[in-house]
Amino acid sequence: MLQFKTIIEPFRIKSVESVKFTARAERETALTQAGYNVFLLRGEDVLIDLLTDSGTGAMSAAQWGAIMQGDETYAGSRSFYRFRDVVQDLTGFRHVIPTHQGRAAERILFHSVLKPGDVVPNNNHFDTTRANVEVEEAEARDLVIPEGRVPAQVHPFKGNVDLGALEQTLARDGERVPLVMVTVTNNTGGGQPVSLENLRGVRKLCDRFQKPFFLDACRFAENAWFVKTREAGQSGRTPKAIAQEMFSLADGCTMSAKKDGLANIGGFLALNDDAWAERCRNLLILTEGFPTYGGLAGYDLEAVARGLEEVVEEPYLHYRIRSIEYLHERLVAAGVPVIRPAGGHAVYIDARSLLPHIAPLQYPGIALVNALYVEAGIRGVEIGTVMFGRQHDGTEKAPAMDLVRLAIPRRVYTQSHIDYVAEAVIGVAAMKQQLRGYRMTKAPAVLRHFTALFEPLTA
Ligand SMILES: Cc1ncc(COP(=O)(O)O)c(C=O)c1O
Repeated sequence: MLQFKTIIEPFRIKSVESVKFTARAERETALTQAGYNVFLLRGEDVLIDLLTDSGTGAMSAAQWGAIMQGDETYAGSRSFYRFRDVVQDLTGFRHVIPTHQGRAAERILFHSVLKPGDVVPNNNHFDTTRANVEVEEAEARDLVIPEGRVPAQVHPFKGNVDLGALEQTLARDGERVPLVMVTVTNNTGGGQPVSLENLRGVRKLCDRFQKPFFLDACRFAENAWFVKTREAGQSGRTPKAIAQEMFSLADGCTMSAKKDGLANIGGFLALNDDAWAERCRNLLILTEGFPTYGGLAGYDLEAVARGLEEVVEEPYLHYRIRSIEYLHERLVAAGVPVIRPAGGHAVYIDARSLLPHIAPLQYPGIALVNALYVEAGIRGVEIGTVMFGRQHDGTEKAPAMDLVRLAIPRRVYTQSHIDYVAEAVIGVAAMKQQLRGYRMTKAPAVLRHFTALFEPLTA
């Protein structure tokens, strides 16, 4: 029997969307007009958009079909019950609260259960998660294992929680910890997975210190695939069974369905505790809507329900993770410094190592992002000094890393798109000596990466 090495896209393309080709000079003009911040470009001026994998995926024919079945009844919509049943089958949680996206679930949970001075441990908080903890005047404490902080260090589960550090936090600051969170996969740390063994360890500590344990579950299916392929004894299980076990170890989750819900919008909060659920639903009604739609249309609930079923299919996950690995392998082979191993949804280039002649406070990540856009029409995102460098007192301090993330939307780009991306990154890396840093000319106080303006430095 023939054994095939080529892993093909597990779908046929039924509907296509043209991309616009632009000349280098047009891109230069567009970037200048955008104040050298790719967030301020018009999407149509981007050839391959790797800004985010969130809400940018392609829905399946079955999802579009389900959308036509959407029930727009205000209260008690049929689409809600279908959504609830799918979420409960996957997670096992008693209460399912739809929200318009992940951060709404975070806001509702944290505003309902945190008070000033509290501490929320996590492997790494995503930026909206951190912001929603901090807005309650609580501390977002990152406790990823030491290997998770070293870009070039290879470890199969670099998203794991440092259980010793968690134990210390719970022993020392236990009264201030209302819940423990773990993000799967760990986006901020490079889309790196968390092992089942580590989740069991977190569960044990939470039992010992009597703390609820929540997953930030945005990329639960990608995490399940890594468990299946990397963790001893897991290869014979389905991704769904692994995901169910991951959820069974927790007491609740926040979820952005824009990632592993395979939908363009949507999210949910799911949990077991009746009293917390009631508090959360009360806030939901204030800010999102009635508990059977939570800021979503009935058709959105249908799309997410179907997406949650499709995302755990093996051929999909096999292709998904392999396509990221493929880009990663090509960059590693060409000597481009990247976080290792490949993440589940993105490749992270270590811009600080690639561009040592650009000081962190001159934004090497922005220099690389902008060069990729001008040279190739590709849009990535800086995850470094611009995103995380602003201190509470308004000063600037470089964080541990200056990365450029190339996040791959789900089911959108083909292998030739990815080949083009690899060629572009390798080409830009080869001209690194020509790249210059930037000065920030407008520095917003909050989430400044979205709207900051820059000026290129000439020397
Ligand atoms: C790990 C993680 N948590 C939470 C969120 C927030 O989700 P949303 O963008 O749907 O608000 C994201 C979004 O990228 C994420 O990656």
